[in-house]
Amino acid sequence: MKVLAICGAANKNRNTAAMLGSAFDGAMSAVGAAGEFVYLYDLNYKGCIGCHSCKLLDERKFARCAVRDGLTPVLEKAIAADVLLIGSPIYFSDITGETRSFLERYLFPGITYNKDHSPTYPTRTKVGWVFTMNAPGEFYKDFFNGLVTMTSRIIGDSEYVTAYQTQQFEDYSKYAATMFDVPMVKKRHIEQFPKDCEAAFNMGKRLAENVKQMINGTTNSTGSARSF
Ligand SMILES: Cc1cc2nc3c(=O)[nH]c(=O)nc-3n(C[C@H](O)[C@H](O)[C@H](O)COP(=O)(O)O)c2cc1C
Repeated sequence: MKVLAICGAANKNRNTAAMLGSAFDGAMSAVGAAGEFVYLYDLNYKGCIGCHSCKLLDERKFARCAVRDGLTPVLEKAIAADVLLIGSPIYFSDITGETRSFLERYLFPGITYNKDHSPTYPTRTKVGWVFTMNAPGEFYKDFFNGLVTMTSRIIGDSEYVTAYQTQQFEDYSKYAATMFDVPMVKKRHIEQFPKDCEAAFNMGKRLAENVKQMINGTTNSTGSARSF
């Protein structure tokens, strides 16, 4: 079983990376399998260039991104992954540009322009999203559900966990940032964030256990054949 974590946050030691790390640990605890943690900001790559090579009725090109750059090996690993964990902070009501560029390159070869938009990947990968943000509560729920629906259709069963009203600075007094209720944010960081990380751990563990059961034949795969 292969577990792949894709971190779409710039900072390796802040909220998103920490929470995604918990999800990764959870998945690894369930399987003791091969796992890899990739930081997108370490890679040199761009988003989809719309060349449509991945739609060509040519089996050497079909369903694979033709662009060769720092993302290429990661895309192959993502396609082969049994459990894929993707983490992103919310930047301007969206995932980060790096996460978005990864998704374009990963998802577009995974669908056709056929009438049924049939997926080309085996759609048996379990996907767990991790989102962190400043906003309160359920602010971006529709957005998260939209992303999860998309990856469920193209990649495989998907779910998400969140941490909101995250701590951005150690010392808020050094920044132009009077909009924050600092005591509340600090309290949440101490009391709530560990619980959010625990929820991420449990998600990773659950997804990996689910795949394990599928491999052992106790649940059905939703796999569909790759075809054009
Ligand atoms: C460029 C930028 C844009 C942001 N935009 C939003 C936003 O639209 N909504 C929100 O809730 N938080 C926003 N934030 C806050 C981050 O999503 C939040 O602090 C997140 O937890 C940061 O993740 P990190 O600690 O892993 O870096 C933004 C932060 C940055 C740096």
